[in-house]
Amino acid sequence: MFASRRILVLALLLISAIGGQSESIPCKLKEETHGKVCVCTADYCDYLENPVLADENEWFLISSSKQGLRFSTTSDKFGTEEKVTVQDYVEPATETKNETILSRLVDKVVASAFTLESRESSITRSVTLRLDRNNTHQKMVGFGGSYTGAVEFLVDNFKQSELADHLYKSFYAEDGLGFNLMRVSIGGCDFDLEPWSYAEEVDDTLLSDMDELNDHDVKKVEQIKRLIAVSGVKNLLVKGAAWSAPPWMKTNNKWTGFGRLKRAYYQTWADYHLRWIKLMEDNGIPIWAISTGNEPLNGIVFMYFVRFMSMGWTPQTQAIWLNDYLGPTIRNSEFNDTILFGNDDQRYSFPHWFKMMNYTRPNSIDYLDGLSLHWYWDEIFGNSFIEHTTEYAPDKILIVSESCIGDKPWQAAAPLLGSWERAEKYARDYLQNIKLGFQAWIDWNICLDEKGGPNYVDNTVDAPVIVNTTTYEEFYKQPMFYAMGHFSKLVPEGSVRIDAVPSNVNLDSVAFQRPDNKIAAVLFNSGRADLDITVVDSVRGQFVVNVPAKSIHTLMYS
Ligand SMILES: *[C@@H]1O[C@H](CO)[C@@H](O)[C@H](O)[C@H]1NC(C)=O
Ligand SMILES: *[C@@H]1O[C@H](CO)[C@@H](O)[C@H](O)[C@H]1NC(C)=O
Ligand SMILES: *[C@@H]1O[C@H](CO)[C@@H](O)[C@H](O)[C@H]1NC(C)=O
Ligand SMILES: *[C@@H]1O[C@H](CO)[C@@H](O)[C@H](O)[C@H]1NC(C)=O
Ligand SMILES: *[C@@H]1O[C@H](CO)[C@@H](O)[C@H](O)[C@H]1NC(C)=O
Repeated sequence: MFASRRILVLALLLISAIGGQSESIPCKLKEETHGKVCVCTADYCDYLENPVLADENEWFLISSSKQGLRFSTTSDKFGTEEKVTVQDYVEPATETKNETILSRLVDKVVASAFTLESRESSITRSVTLRLDRNNTHQKMVGFGGSYTGAVEFLVDNFKQSELADHLYKSFYAEDGLGFNLMRVSIGGCDFDLEPWSYAEEVDDTLLSDMDELNDHDVKKVEQIKRLIAVSGVKNLLVKGAAWSAPPWMKTNNKWTGFGRLKRAYYQTWADYHLRWIKLMEDNGIPIWAISTGNEPLNGIVFMYFVRFMSMGWTPQTQAIWLNDYLGPTIRNSEFNDTILFGNDDQRYSFPHWFKMMNYTRPNSIDYLDGLSLHWYWDEIFGNSFIEHTTEYAPDKILIVSESCIGDKPWQAAAPLLGSWERAEKYARDYLQNIKLGFQAWIDWNICLDEKGGPNYVDNTVDAPVIVNTTTYEEFYKQPMFYAMGHFSKLVPEGSVRIDAVPSNVNLDSVAFQRPDNKIAAVLFNSGRADLDITVVDSVRGQFVVNVPAKSIHTLMYS
């Protein structure tokens, strides 16, 4: 039965003909090899205005699905008895010239008009989700992506500057994903066109080249400033990490391989970090945080696999550098409020790394405001690595500072255009780590080319946006882009996680109370059946919504 009060607002109907700063524009879907992407060009890109709730009983749902929903919207009220159905995407008949498909579609539409509840004979499962704002957990810092040399290169080649503005707004504007975090490398990283640093003159311990930007980052800084201006992002939190010191400071005199920082340069390397913070600040990009260095174990254990810039640390040597050099250098400087993150590596080193540091230099981990994790081994090393860490050091900010797909031998080391499975992998890991207490998440390259580069060592991977480098006139938003958006868009900095308990495994969920006291919840149906979700809020009451198979949603209400 159709519910008369049902308000089903497909994003398609939201096109506002009147111009203005903020308007909702639907995704322009395109079928690619592995599923659907959304196409953006200089004069077209999809956005979704944030919901404004009419009254305290209204709820608002943003939905994406494997079938093709991308941030479509539905709303209704708590206390309504009829079930509200989120219709899945159906290929528009007008685009079909093939009679077979057309007649099949008509059959489907006629069939669904009569069997709306069961939707094409598939099973409907059900679940009850209880949200309790009295049971609070961690406070969120936010979400973001990384601005690498690869991103800089691609943006620099865009045919029209409007395309770059769409890229920036898609991630950082309020009607985009609402990102507020960004990771940048201090010097080069693997996603650069060559290795580089700010101090390449041998033995220049005065770091005399660090007063000005150099050829490697002058464009990047301009682009990031444009991103800040055009997206309107308030309080962008930028986090830096160095991949490697220049070869002359290292034991092997190389950018990569089994090499560590020479003891003689421990203070120089601390000064290098401070000078970088000042350099960025002087050029209009305030730095929120730095880490003690990207993936320290690459230069100690994994040097046979890792061919890109890296510098090895053991927890013992890093404790000495942090406690005796970097920590005091930053804390005694004008940038004493810069947040310091430790580790910046995989789960298997948690919490052992921090224990060994504190053992080598007692209280050295007091210099660390936060602990930084890369997600790559989350599926292999269980949650206990994180649980033991939060027991050992409960007051640290927990951040995931790198994630992407395609790094493993069993994964395609390239973008899979349209892959919903990769979006699900994102959703699953975001849910898992947020439930473990993580407060922030920074994804890797915000965009890459069709091969998953450019990258000076051909270490190619996937990204949430893929640029068409045949024309440099369009880019494609992957399902992963929307998966991240379901977490970031309505969960601003300062939101507090609250209890969200599903009655069975058909639904996975996390929920937050925002600084404006509204509730935002992520609902993930990874199953092949559609799902009746009874949402029960301890204050607001309840309602029932039916969501399609393979879909993810963000719910908001007062
Ligand atoms: C229409 O599409 C079907 C299924 O994709 C295909 O088998 C058939 O050959 C198509 N017919 C025409 C006339 O293109
Ligand atoms: C939640 O907390 C408020 C204020 O502390 C209290 O009045 C209310 O009864 C609590 N609600 C539940 C469901 O525990
Ligand atoms: C940081 O430095 C400022 C001066 O630049 C000083 O006022 C402040 O007390 C310092 N904060 C800490 C925590 O040392
Ligand atoms: C770090 O070491 C100091 C000195 O041994 C000790 O007092 C402190 O509890 C340690 N911190 C942690 C988190 O174990
Ligand atoms: C990139 O654009 C070219 C020219 O329009 C087109 O042929 C090609 O299919 C596009 N690439 C992708 C991945 O869609």
